[in-house]
Amino acid sequence: MTIYSRIVGTGSYLPAKVLTNRDLERMVDTTDEWVFTRTGIRQRHVAAEGENASDLALSASRRAIEAAGIGPQNIGLIVVATTTPDMVFPSTACILQAKLGIKGCPAFDMQAVCSGFVYGLGAASQFMGTGQYKYALVVGTEVYSRILDWQDRSTCVLFGDGAGAVVLKQDSAPGIMSCHLHADGSYAGMLSVPGTVSGGKISGRPLLQMEGSTVFKFAVKVLEEVAEEALAANHLRKSNIDWLIPHQANIRIIKATARRLGLSMEKVVTTVDRHANTSAASIPLALDEAVRDGRIRSGQHVLLEGVGGGFTWGSVLIKW
Ligand code: UT7
Repeated sequence: MTIYSRIVGTGSYLPAKVLTNRDLERMVDTTDEWVFTRTGIRQRHVAAEGENASDLALSASRRAIEAAGIGPQNIGLIVVATTTPDMVFPSTACILQAKLGIKGCPAFDMQAVCSGFVYGLGAASQFMGTGQYKYALVVGTEVYSRILDWQDRSTCVLFGDGAGAVVLKQDSAPGIMSCHLHADGSYAGMLSVPGTVSGGKISGRPLLQMEGSTVFKFAVKVLEEVAEEALAANHLRKSNIDWLIPHQANIRIIKATARRLGLSMEKVVTTVDRHANTSAASIPLALDEAVRDGRIRSGQHVLLEGVGGGFTWGSVLIKW
């Protein structure tokens, strides 16, 4: 008998501080009008000093665990998708495990940049398929404010901090219907933070750099491709998608993807206006919002799709 997994709880967390485009006008040579018309972003949240990826993850996880109606001690596996870990090691997943007050279960980080959550969900659902785990916690958490060059207007206006989490439960029926993951490392230079720690010093430049328009075109292309791939694998049509939750980087990318898939924007969950691009956190943040406000309902098909540095991209198709 095939063992599937189902999302039984979602949660999210946004840091208290809000930075609007108007605030950014006072920091770099930009305008609210430029940022909004090019990206759809109006504001983003920024973590407080000392507030780390594991802290954001903890708040989101507690909400997801509560929504699942279980306690932290029931969690059998922790996967944390992040590109902005608390430290080089231990993993943010291990730090989160300790903050949740549990021990013993496997906990590891997933590094796939903005595709991290779909990679993490894909990995966790494969683990669940072994039947060894009843519940898994999958989190996307980011503090991109720490890896931005706040003097570079072409990148600092685009990103924000936040976290989202889901609890997976073992089930005899999907749940998670399919997961398709991809990568092409030949595009590594297109979007990167080309720095590391070496000999007690920072080597390279540990700030985000991006070839914006190349990334834009790549994202639109692969977001359409992975949606088609997921539908074909499940013998579904575009009209069967009840909700599309794409990575939230730019409303123009999201609209172009929806157009190519023939989907009305009413079927697309968007948070980019208020959260900006929160990388691995963007999909679970949007998912939590649409679950909690009642848009996503039992029996519906929900397609998650991510794309980001690496390059990495992928989809997870869910029957809710
Ligand atoms: O998370 C996964 C990956 N990330 C993404 O998916 C992001 C993908 N890329 C994008 O969203 C868009 O390419 C951007 C929003 C980054 C840029 O939009 P664009 O329409 O591709 O603009 P552009 O890069 O062609 O820049 C147009 C102009 C440039 O000026 P010139 O050379 O035309 O005079 C930039 O210097 O806009 C200028 N510019 C700005 N102006 C005001 C760049 N950033 C800003 C800014 N404010 N913040």
